[in-house]
Amino acid sequence: MRNLNAVNITDAVIEQFSGCSDERLKQVLNSLVTHLHAFIRDVEPTEQEWTQAIDFLTRTGQMCDDKRQEFILLSDTLGVTMLVDAINHHSSDPMVSESTVLGPFYVADPPEAAQGESIDWNVEGEPFLVEGRVHNERGEPLANVVVDVWQSDSEGFYDVQKELEGASLRARFTTDAQGRYAFWTVTPSPYPIPTDGPVGKMLELTGRHPYRPAHVHFMLMAEGFDTLVTQVFAEDDPYLDSDAVFGVKDSLVREYQLLPPGKAPDGRSMDVPFRHLTYDFGLKASR
Ligand code: BEZ
Ligand code: FE
Repeated sequence: MRNLNAVNITDAVIEQFSGCSDERLKQVLNSLVTHLHAFIRDVEPTEQEWTQAIDFLTRTGQMCDDKRQEFILLSDTLGVTMLVDAINHHSSDPMVSESTVLGPFYVADPPEAAQGESIDWNVEGEPFLVEGRVHNERGEPLANVVVDVWQSDSEGFYDVQKELEGASLRARFTTDAQGRYAFWTVTPSPYPIPTDGPVGKMLELTGRHPYRPAHVHFMLMAEGFDTLVTQVFAEDDPYLDSDAVFGVKDSLVREYQLLPPGKAPDGRSMDVPFRHLTYDFGLKASR
């Protein structure tokens, strides 16, 4: 292993991993070295450019703490998160809901809320009724499904980005005997992903905008079923076709219907206009 050059160095590095007894790890590293070397041969970076690349990754790591994960943001904005999603969740069954990116604003064990409750604690905005059913692959209702929801406010901020006392616009519901969930919230708006780090710089330098279309996040968990992580997007949003993290799928786009004051579908009496979203989720049995 001497006198290596731009052609034979790849095999030499792969050979060094040949003694690895973990076959999966060996496969991953062989592929990584093969593709990384091919990338370098393709791009032919100058040494200064390579130093810049290492600096970019260093700053990405330095931006991370328990509240901020810049590497996930990098994965999201390079389409890698959605590629991993596509590989791992590719049911063609129309009875199974499609998944999309989790994002950085999920908080485990959110406050529990009752069917029909408002979760707009300490925030103002246009009232928004969100409801639907959860069913299995045969369309049968699923009771006792844990439904975690979280979303931005009408200015595009999550509670964890603001100085709020306690959680807001996030909660945990449990489906009733008919598989139903329902809650009142405020209409979310499109918002930019965090741009104050190296990922934001990359978007700026490449002429990309940082916006995500308005959406509500859902995580559905039930014994015997695959956990579903998804979002439901507003049909009239200007960013549906240019989501900064590539997370939009047609099946996840719905009208956030604007309704006049009066009796809401759940019987609540409304004295201002409000929006209404109905979305049913299909869960896939775990195999
Ligand atoms: C979100 O939808 O919350 C999100 C997803 C990916 C990156 C940033 C935010
Ligand atoms: Fe979001």
